[in-house]
Amino acid sequence: MAEKKFYITTPIFYPNAALHLGHAYVTTLSDIIARYHRLMGDRTYFLTGSDENAQTVVQGAKKAGEDIKPFRDRMVVGFVDLFKKLEISYDQFIRTSDEVVHWPGAQLLWQKMAEAGDIYRKEYEGLYCVGHEAFLTEKDLVEGKCPDHGTTPERLKEENYFFRLSKYTDQIKQKIESGELQILPETRKHEILSFLNEGLQDVSFSRPTNKVPVGIPVPGDDSQVMYVWCDALTNYITALGYGRGDETLYQEFWPVDVHVIGKDILRFHAAIWPAMLMSAGLALPKAILVHGMILSGGKKMSKTLGNVIDPHKLIEEYGVEALRYYLARHINPLEDGEITYEHFKEVYNADLVNGLGNLVARVMQLAQTHLSAPVAVEFVPYPEEYINPFSQFEINRAAEYVWGRIAALDARITAGAPFKVVKEDAEKGKVMIESLVRELAAIDLMLEPLMPATSKKVIEAIVANKKPENLFPRKE
Ligand code: MSP
Repeated sequence: MAEKKFYITTPIFYPNAALHLGHAYVTTLSDIIARYHRLMGDRTYFLTGSDENAQTVVQGAKKAGEDIKPFRDRMVVGFVDLFKKLEISYDQFIRTSDEVVHWPGAQLLWQKMAEAGDIYRKEYEGLYCVGHEAFLTEKDLVEGKCPDHGTTPERLKEENYFFRLSKYTDQIKQKIESGELQILPETRKHEILSFLNEGLQDVSFSRPTNKVPVGIPVPGDDSQVMYVWCDALTNYITALGYGRGDETLYQEFWPVDVHVIGKDILRFHAAIWPAMLMSAGLALPKAILVHGMILSGGKKMSKTLGNVIDPHKLIEEYGVEALRYYLARHINPLEDGEITYEHFKEVYNADLVNGLGNLVARVMQLAQTHLSAPVAVEFVPYPEEYINPFSQFEINRAAEYVWGRIAALDARITAGAPFKVVKEDAEKGKVMIESLVRELAAIDLMLEPLMPATSKKVIEAIVANKKPENLFPRKE
């Protein structure tokens, strides 16, 4: 089979505060999918980054009493540090403040849209919500406030550039309906289609430079900077070298196989972004995977609401592998998911201490005691029950399958009692134990995308024929 390419992206994050578990979720989900594709032998490119030319970042700096640049740098150091801890295997971390990597491509795309006749000047008055980094309409508001952020939007009256989004309504609808641009899950596809049915409105695509202290200058007009979403969305192609001269990566990896995003930013990705690409004559994404929100106390976890769980805290207490496991198995990527400390602990003890950890200890204790040499493990093809869910991005179902195999192997040990058999018939017992080790190795191969460090420890134990140190200490 010919080698396939696979390009996957996360949203780029605002460096206005530290990341919380919701951000850790989308990044870990994407990482698991990326690792799975590498495991399948696909040439994989995994992109993440930070969305820096935003007013929310300017406000964050102000609140911290710092200058914008050092503040952003400090926030981004925190992002990279968290992603390292989370074992995020990205190939590139793009920063939209990077004038060398990002700006030329963003400006080139703008020029293409302008050449297509899709950019025009307009006097405009509207209500800008900094939390959304978008204009809202009166009917979006509840008692004059943005219902998501609880803030009163700023009334702006200015002349700026507009993007002819309305022109693309029907074309986008057609691409989504035909499945050429796949929106997953179905519920989100219907949501965006009914939004498109109302007809898209043109959007303000720039702001006056004297009002917004950050941003990419509009080509040919220094008095305006690009609207932050126009700037941010282009990261998915500028990261590949678009507009920078060397487009090797762009040629190889665009169009993207999947943009992983939260449902909060669906319209930007499934309406504005495809329209921008069409306007510039570029290929559209193949798929957009829209995950649900991590809830905390029944509400979307967010900095504004202050109900955040700090991923560092869970990592310190349970280790990063446990966090990855929880996010993979116990959050359905296609729905909203609640997380509590109590449930986390329960799952940790049940699935990791008593489940995986106990199984590895049992099998490797037998192997170490009764086998004189390590079992030679051969590659076994990945079962359909593992591959199929991944092709639908249902990593929770893939994880569930792996844990089914863990339980089955555990039951096999109990039923077959190799520890007894080996005392009565050494040869028969040895064969039994070898077969258990081979099954453990087969399970371990499937663990790699989910829990890379654990997967490595287990295979190392198998190769050394030695029971590893306790993988998951019990938590009381
Ligand atoms: N900068 C924009 C995205 C630009 S992409 C071209 C942005 N940034 S963000 O930092 O506010 O949030 C990024 C993403 O984090 C969200 O779209 C979503 O995918 C994820 N999450 C933020 N809060 C979340 C939860 N409570 N739960 C799950 N994911 C969440 O939006």
